[in-house]
Amino acid sequence: MKDNKPISGFSKLSKNQKTEWLIQQLGLAADTASFLADFESKSPETQAVIADLSENHLSNFHFPFSVAPNFLVNGQYRVFPFVTEESSVVAALGKAAGFWAKRGGFHAAVLGTEKKGQLHFSWKGALEKIKSNFNEIEQRLRADAAPITQKMEKRGGGISTIELKYLPEILPDYYQLDVAFETRDAMGANFINSCLEQFGKSLKGWLSAQNDWSEAERDAEIIMAILSNYVPDSRVRVWVECPVEELSETNDADAARNFAEKFVQAVHISRNDVSRAVTHNKGIFNGVDALALATGNDFRAIEAGGHAFAARNGKYAGLSEAKIEEGIFSFSMELSLAVGVVGGVTALHPMARLAMQILENPSAEELMQYLAIAGLASNWSAVRALVTTGIQQGHMKMHLSNILNTLGATDEQKAAAKLYFEKRDVSFSDVEQFLKNDTGN
Ligand code: MEV
Repeated sequence: MKDNKPISGFSKLSKNQKTEWLIQQLGLAADTASFLADFESKSPETQAVIADLSENHLSNFHFPFSVAPNFLVNGQYRVFPFVTEESSVVAALGKAAGFWAKRGGFHAAVLGTEKKGQLHFSWKGALEKIKSNFNEIEQRLRADAAPITQKMEKRGGGISTIELKYLPEILPDYYQLDVAFETRDAMGANFINSCLEQFGKSLKGWLSAQNDWSEAERDAEIIMAILSNYVPDSRVRVWVECPVEELSETNDADAARNFAEKFVQAVHISRNDVSRAVTHNKGIFNGVDALALATGNDFRAIEAGGHAFAARNGKYAGLSEAKIEEGIFSFSMELSLAVGVVGGVTALHPMARLAMQILENPSAEELMQYLAIAGLASNWSAVRALVTTGIQQGHMKMHLSNILNTLGATDEQKAAAKLYFEKRDVSFSDVEQFLKNDTGN
């Protein structure tokens, strides 16, 4: 940076002023403003919606919006929309969908939808004293939160349980209100956080009114109030299954058995080796995140909760399971996740709204199932490739177009390169060499 000093009031500058500042400070091209403008939507309304999603917005950052048809889910065909920058992901998802549609499709069941949040506070008093008064405290908390919970209760949600936890092993005098919520079709972050912040005020109010308690007992220090992205009781189970011999696409029973055994071994390794587990789960989130992003859901929340769920037994492990029993191959996964289909970016972002239409406007429970299916499908294709051809074949073929674009290949060169590399390994340097030869340089 030219000035090497902080700038104050940056967010108050206009978009052009911000861009000018960047050009000056970083030596960016003089036409950066028009470059940025090229990535904006032609529709002023759409552009305003996108711009309002973030502070210091300069332009839009494009990722491909793709679809994969043939997802058979509990007997219903669905088209899944995806947003991802990783070239091979949607191709892999489409392949998995087509493969399993011929073998009964994906099965899914929601096992729970409970979400949680905590009020963290410290209180200097005897545990028994607050415990024995907790019924009364809870009544006050619920009554004070009624204006916030009314609407949600009408939709069948609200506050489920409020548990007082004393945790001196974490901090001296440290308590939590561990609160469970149902938020129906909403992700519920705002609802949960509003309830918890109100609980903080109500708890302090209740304590301060206990005139016969000591001064220290009549106060609590609220540390923070926040939902948890760890949602082990908001959980979905998804699975595929078929007779082992049907796993072969060429009716080769030996190949099918050999493939099934290797697949089960690969999944077993992911459940017992952390190095493999992380990459295995990354393959799962390739699918989950791409669908979460397309539908305007918070994929960081889903990932954080999913990885914590993967470590729920004290050791980080692969999320999926595979087995062969009495000649039947089955591949399944339980995934914890909290998503919404009303409010938030899902309702705001025009592309997310279209994605929801493509999914035929699912409920939150249906979307949970689709997300986990996208994860299982993506995992299936990755592990299948790993135990057969290896990952590079499919990966680099898809990557070829990225390399060609990076090297500025013409349409003719792209067509020629795709033909040339059909039966050859793809590497950046080989593609570069091919283009040099092709242009006679
Ligand atoms: C690449 O994005 C994902 C994989 O590494 C997943 C896996 O190894 O299972 C192929």
